Amino acid sequence: MVALSCGKLTDASAETRYSTVNGKQIYEKLCASCHGSKGFPPYDALVLYDPAPRPLLSGSFAYGETKQDIFNTISEGKGRNMLSFRGRLTPPQIEAVADYVITLKDKLASQQEQSHSGPRPSTPEPIEAETPAPPQ
Ligand code: HEC
Repeated sequence: MVALSCGKLTDASAETRYSTVNGKQIYEKLCASCHGSKGFPPYDALVLYDPAPRPLLSGSFAYGETKQDIFNTISEGKGRNMLSFRGRLTPPQIEAVADYVITLKDKLASQQEQSHSGPRPSTPEPIEAETPAPPQ
């Protein structure tokens, strides 16, 4: 069931509606099956498609990594298996999902930073053992 009213959006309302937050929703719905929700394609998709979906989390893209490049890839499609989404998404939606794709790389970077910051988990160790027992 499509409860949204179709065809009546003005450009302005479309833009406020499809922010980066909704870029994530669109990505999860239309892209994650092939590219993985974190930007690394699931095993099934890698086996099923030839050419295989590309990972989107490294920040380095075969067809360009600027927002405009990613927009074009999504809009036009690439090769046999990357479909053109022009008919299914409005330009503001494509822009929102392109923004989201760009953030996948930042997520990877922040995960790496965390894991390089030290071997210990970030929760501080309790130091109670060091403090002398209170006098009785
Ligand atoms: C049916 C599987 C499938 C779906 C769904 C899909 N893609 Fe792709 N995508 C591919 C494949 C396969 C390629 C590689 C195309 C090639 O190199 O021939 C690709 C390539 C790309 C690239 C280019 C990567 C690069 O290295 O330049 C981007 C960006 C991309 N997809 C984004 C998306 C987004 C965003 C969505 C959702 C709107 C999406 N894709 C949905 C299969 C898919």
